[in-house]
Amino acid sequence: MIFESLQTLAEELEKQGELKRIPHRLSPCLEIPALTSETTRAQGPALLFTNVEDYNMQVLTNVFGSVERTMFATGFGDLRKAGITLARLIKEEKAVGGIKRPDCINIIDQAPCREIVLEGGSADLALLPALKCWPLDAGAAFTLPVVFTADPETGIMNAGIYRMQILDSQRAIMHWYPSSGGAMHFEKARRQGKKLQAAVALGPDPAVTIAACMPLPRHVSEVDAAGILRGKPVKMTPCLHSGMLVPAWSQIVLEGTVEPVLAAEGPFATHTGYYSPEEPFPVFRAKSVTMQRNPIFPATVPGPPPQEDCFMAQAVQELFIPAAREAFPEITDIHSPPHGIFGRIVFVSIRKEYPWQGRELLDKLLKANSPLPHKIIWLFDQDTDIRNHDEVLWKMANHLNPAADTVVAETALWGMDPACFNLPACSRTGLDCTTKFPEERRGMAWPEKVRPSPDAVAKAKKVAAELGLLKS
Ligand SMILES: Cc1cc2nc3c(=O)[nH]c(=O)nc-3n(C[C@H](O)[C@H](O)[C@H](O)COP(=O)(O)O)c2cc1C
Repeated sequence: MIFESLQTLAEELEKQGELKRIPHRLSPCLEIPALTSETTRAQGPALLFTNVEDYNMQVLTNVFGSVERTMFATGFGDLRKAGITLARLIKEEKAVGGIKRPDCINIIDQAPCREIVLEGGSADLALLPALKCWPLDAGAAFTLPVVFTADPETGIMNAGIYRMQILDSQRAIMHWYPSSGGAMHFEKARRQGKKLQAAVALGPDPAVTIAACMPLPRHVSEVDAAGILRGKPVKMTPCLHSGMLVPAWSQIVLEGTVEPVLAAEGPFATHTGYYSPEEPFPVFRAKSVTMQRNPIFPATVPGPPPQEDCFMAQAVQELFIPAAREAFPEITDIHSPPHGIFGRIVFVSIRKEYPWQGRELLDKLLKANSPLPHKIIWLFDQDTDIRNHDEVLWKMANHLNPAADTVVAETALWGMDPACFNLPACSRTGLDCTTKFPEERRGMAWPEKVRPSPDAVAKAKKVAAELGLLKS
């Protein structure tokens, strides 16, 4: 099934027992976030808050609270098949100047997101139930906005999810890191002495939301990725105040400009489980707020793992496995545990065919402009089940000689990492936990792995069953 509107998605999730309506009166300040966070941790359903204190709008959270629900909501279907399609798109899509592929987008004029149009002084951000998620957060913020900007030089559009702290009824701070598409567009506009046009889609097609947090190469459009992966073009509609397009089925669209004026943003709880420090970021000023007649306000609660963003990141990472294997064919699998924070710790297995191949690959992976935001890579042989964390620890304990098998590289890493205090320079490390060839061990062969005698085990199991020795 393919969902353009959050209303239809919510109905379908409810039918499947994957969404609960919450009729209790709860506040967007700490209360909705607390119930969301507890529900996500318990691997519970999406939540539709129908009685939001002080607001006449429903709030939807935890839609992406599992990899399976994420794949269902986006319409991307099977992870591996979708990953192969994504790898093909990344290879084939040329820098053609934007998102006008007919198989990916469809431009319409009568858009649901324009049912209500508020402009000028009526364009009031205070109408929207933005969440204050944790006690020490600096204030309320949009936690799931899809921010569209266009490159001031080429016109190529970018979509990314960047937290937006509400400053007042018209302004919010754009928390985009310097390496992000939005920040790069802003910098180009600033150098030209111009304000950057921006459109913020709150609750577009779920496929667009997930595509917006994909680390796609700059020449690949997020909207193209959403359309191709779900097999149905995304309906887009022209912006009221710029030449850009926004998803027509968005629940709410804010349009305005990002001004070259910095404001102190944060602190805010992040996916790391720590608060991000107060830092200066540019300010978005809304010119218009448009919405559907009964919009659903989408939100997520970032915080100590596992929260919803862990599962979004996990789904995205799984989708990128085929693309990573195209770049490095020896890779057999990639897995990042939820507590590894957005792929910051990643397990990789490889088909190792020659001595020092592990170190060589780690060196390349650490330096590559890889889509994975990895800080620590653990490398294993292909016979290691890297999704089995006990096996990973056992292999690491035995296969790693830290002095010989550790590779460290200085690199730019995106922010929000408590350990990387001297931004933008950070370090990454790779640990080679593969089986070593004799050439890597001063000629010594790797020891034989302990394996039981199959006949003796078969007999032992029979005896054990007769005596009820083993728990099934
Ligand atoms: C829930 C959520 C919140 C995010 N918040 C931020 C943020 O505040 N700032 C940021 O730079 N990236 C944030 N990201 C990550 C970006 O959306 C992601 O890196 C995306 O690929 C950026 O797109 P871009 O490279 O086109 O800028 C967030 C991702 C998710 C899923």
